[in-house]
Amino acid sequence: MAEYEYETHEYDVVVVGAGGAGLRATLGMAEQGLRTACVTKVFPTRSHTVAAQGGIAASLSNMGPDNWQWHMYDTVKGSDWLGDTDAMEYLAREAPAAVYELEHYGVPFSRTEEGKIYQRPFGGHTTEFGEGPAVQRTCAAADRTGHAILHTLYGQSLKNNAEFYIEYFAIDLIMSDDGVCQGVVCWKLDDGTMHVFNAKMVVLATGGYGRAYFSATSAHTCTGDGGGMVARAGLPLQDMEFVQFHPTGIYGSGCLITEGARGEGGYLTNSEGERFMERYAPQYKDLAPRDYVSRSMTMEIREGRGVGENGDHIHLNLSHLPAEALSERLPGISESAKIFAGVDVTKEPIPVLPTVHYNMGGIPTNYFGEVLNPTKDDPNAVVPGLMAVGEAGCASVHGANRLGSNSLIDLVVFGRAAAIRAGKVVDPDSPNPSLNQASVDKAFDRFDNVRHADGGTPTAELRLEMQRTMQEDAAVFRTDKTLADGVKKMEGIAAKLDDLKVTDRSLIWNSDLMETLELTNLMPNALATIVGAEARKESRGAHASEDHTERDDKNWRVHTITRVDGQKVDLTYRPVITDPLTTEDEGGIALKKIAPKARTF
Ligand code: FUM
Repeated sequence: MAEYEYETHEYDVVVVGAGGAGLRATLGMAEQGLRTACVTKVFPTRSHTVAAQGGIAASLSNMGPDNWQWHMYDTVKGSDWLGDTDAMEYLAREAPAAVYELEHYGVPFSRTEEGKIYQRPFGGHTTEFGEGPAVQRTCAAADRTGHAILHTLYGQSLKNNAEFYIEYFAIDLIMSDDGVCQGVVCWKLDDGTMHVFNAKMVVLATGGYGRAYFSATSAHTCTGDGGGMVARAGLPLQDMEFVQFHPTGIYGSGCLITEGARGEGGYLTNSEGERFMERYAPQYKDLAPRDYVSRSMTMEIREGRGVGENGDHIHLNLSHLPAEALSERLPGISESAKIFAGVDVTKEPIPVLPTVHYNMGGIPTNYFGEVLNPTKDDPNAVVPGLMAVGEAGCASVHGANRLGSNSLIDLVVFGRAAAIRAGKVVDPDSPNPSLNQASVDKAFDRFDNVRHADGGTPTAELRLEMQRTMQEDAAVFRTDKTLADGVKKMEGIAAKLDDLKVTDRSLIWNSDLMETLELTNLMPNALATIVGAEARKESRGAHASEDHTERDDKNWRVHTITRVDGQKVDLTYRPVITDPLTTEDEGGIALKKIAPKARTF
């Protein structure tokens, strides 16, 4: 058994991760007087939410008629009928209040002439239950909305006495023998000390796992750490096969160019200078949802109408937009285009390509953020002491495809929901759980094994193998063959975790060790993704199968539940929740409005 000295910390709640969801949960917990710690591997304002550009969806009606029922309808349709209806209603209903709360906390939103929060159009957001024109629903702080939200929430959390443990890497969850989460074991990166956090509630807000792919808009820190910990605790992941490709990553670097660019009037063209989206989505054109646009771009390239020397990308045109729209509404992407593509957006188009951007799947939760461990008898069984929010979680509001700007609203609505729930289920006067020492020891043993790994495969080499396989075999379009090949390759790649080589054994600022631990988190996420995709014999949202081109609601309107143990992946399925929270009589949406139908734009 590995011998590590450690310090123990006791809190009511420990939040792991300090992005938008983690900070909103932290703030909400602390505001209620719960003793709250936020443990984060990067400085809070460097979390990946800082990179969110275009905005946050809420039916404020500042720019024209809108209501939460239309927002809910768009989210249901956007999800290709895989989202849980209760959670999608909660998201759309609570969104305006959550945004006004942000405004009152101090988020510096862009403003209309009358001083209201500025809202722009985004893909898939419409009026009149998908029958009317596109709506301006996405509330924006220029094209740096995530940056503005993150800084505000961090300041507010400090003001409310939340305690931050910054540059602490979470190794594993502490679980009791009867399945209650009791805390988390952490390594402090800057001095090499070890820490055990004992808590009545642990909230995983660790973000997505975009870095399982070769080219992603996600930060290099997006390594699915929550999903990795959950898988090692014997708990499941949900709907991992649904990986969103953002249509406009900069060709080559993968840097994000916000959908807000198309919201402000930008458009895509092929090598013939044609605005091809008019053919694929006659009603909403460049403002169709992301899965639609990414597939259309891929088809143009495949059919020989890509731009550039190799005909392998597409142009995003902004040069026709007024100079003030570019400088006031899109200053960040004008700069990114210059730095990463050498393009002056006032004169030239930006070379873009669909790029991995978001994971619809994650740790299954109910709409309070409580983690689920579905059983045959109870598909909604809750794991006591454990919550997951943000991209790490799967509530599931995005189903098979997320609408742009529904991510930031998911972060704050469900970060807030988790805090409200914790206020009900966490008793600040009760004693902390007595920790399961075997679970603590197991975490240290795993850490020590990784630290002393002495095989023949360097971490960077294995990571690259995984990333290239995921990029090639679990792409925008998938076939039975690419997926079956990919599963085989990924099983071999995952087996090589036992042959890793870590060269630096020190404990202080050891990036070799940290990246290896991150790889052990990425791997179960990647495996769950490709195995779930191979099993799903239909096309739905971001899962576009060339062998099974239709959506199959009879057999496949179900959530994929994946348990990963080493290279072994076990799949079961859980019913989609189809009942909303309120009936039509109570002011809710009519069931017939959200019944599945063909998804066209
Ligand atoms: O395009 C964007 O600004 C990204 C927004 C989102 O993913 O919601």
